[in-house]
Amino acid sequence: MHAIDILLKKRDGGELSTAEIEFVVQAVVRNGELKLRTAAGDGPGVEAIGGGSEDISDAQIGAFLMAVFQRGLTLRELGDLTRAMRFSGETFDAAVLAASGAKAFTVDKHSTGGVGDKSSLLIAPVWAAVGMDGGTSVSVPMISGRSLGHTGGTLDKLETIPGFDSQLSMVRMGEVLRECHAALVGQTPRLVPADRILYGMRDHTGTVESPVLICASIMSKKLAEDLRGLVLDVKVGSGAFMPTLERSRYLAELMVSTGEAAGTKTVALLTAMDEPLGRFSGNWVEVWECVEIMKGVRHPMSADLIELSNTLSGWGLYLAGRAGSPEEGAKVADEVLRSGEAYAAWLKIVAAQGGDTSVFEDPAAFHRPTATRVLRASRAGFLAGMDCKEVGWAVQRLGAGRERPGDPVSAHAGIESHAKIGDWVEAGQPLFTLFSEDEARLAEPYRMMEATVRIGDVRPERLPLVREVVRGESTQLPAR
Ligand code: URA
Repeated sequence: MHAIDILLKKRDGGELSTAEIEFVVQAVVRNGELKLRTAAGDGPGVEAIGGGSEDISDAQIGAFLMAVFQRGLTLRELGDLTRAMRFSGETFDAAVLAASGAKAFTVDKHSTGGVGDKSSLLIAPVWAAVGMDGGTSVSVPMISGRSLGHTGGTLDKLETIPGFDSQLSMVRMGEVLRECHAALVGQTPRLVPADRILYGMRDHTGTVESPVLICASIMSKKLAEDLRGLVLDVKVGSGAFMPTLERSRYLAELMVSTGEAAGTKTVALLTAMDEPLGRFSGNWVEVWECVEIMKGVRHPMSADLIELSNTLSGWGLYLAGRAGSPEEGAKVADEVLRSGEAYAAWLKIVAAQGGDTSVFEDPAAFHRPTATRVLRASRAGFLAGMDCKEVGWAVQRLGAGRERPGDPVSAHAGIESHAKIGDWVEAGQPLFTLFSEDEARLAEPYRMMEATVRIGDVRPERLPLVREVVRGESTQLPAR
């Protein structure tokens, strides 16, 4: 087979066979391995890739992604792509957790990507804390991604914690899970390597906002975790990859049917992403916000984040049979957050992954931007809205995201929200504070924020945070 023939077939609207899709995914992984060997001074050189009859060049990967973006995939092709990506490297086997006694209920949550969306940093410790108290043991083998397009990435946030190791081996991941009931890891060259490569390429080839590529990316990672339950947070609104309710619902249905077909109880919540979630958007600042919440501090700007986190946690506890309904699960989650149990679980997880937990003693002191600028209300009125995607790009350009794959991200770049849509603001009142580690990076994001924030005379209608729930067949069943 030849990569060029396959991408031409897709470009012209053809349907790819299972073998052709497997060929592309395996060639992508070989391309990545060759680069890693070359970087280590132990390979034939990246230039050798393009001509190989069994390989694929970076340009061909980009062209393949664009062809899929434009033409889409049939459900059969999507199933094949997800499966090929899921098995492109090692996978986690939940059987290794059985040694801990009660059979573990592996559960995870994943978002399609948002601005200031840090709920994973709260949900994983909440579930882990519930897992530690006996009963049906809940375990969270969470594989997260880096920033993508205008959205932030859980891994980039976690890696601002000094010493934190997100690249655990399968053996170490099993140990951390047995000890802490959650492990927070990223793809490695061995764990779902196809997504690691394609995810990075999509960010730079204009192929992020594709329902089938998002579905394959998320579900390949999640199914590689050997999950029994999965809660998906599908964003809707100006800050989402799929801005309309119809497109988000379509994406949710694709992911729910893919999860259910693989035997995982799957539910998707369509949730609002019209403004940054919570108080901060960035990397360390988001860890800081979650640490404060887990220590019992409830800043008014964090109210939407806490509500979302409890709702998603509640669904996971319901799927695990640890609550009679998602609503009861949300109450349990809130208690676990308030009681400090989630914070204790968080400290244990971070320490097990090599992180220095002393930075959580005074997280504000660890926030060290070298440049800040405040955007103030140009007049009195209601904060009427903004293009949340522009806000996300502003956060990335302050230094929180990367221009090219592999670029380092700034720990301290980001924004702080001082008002939410629908709030009354006085002229001159601070709306957002922008942080950067480079004075020169402030001007453009400031202009972007200034241009996109709207103040009006009429209070905008407040839509519910959770717009819809898409449930798979198995989640209709009463909890065990
Ligand atoms: N999160 C992922 O893991 N992949 C996507 O494509 C989008 C969000």
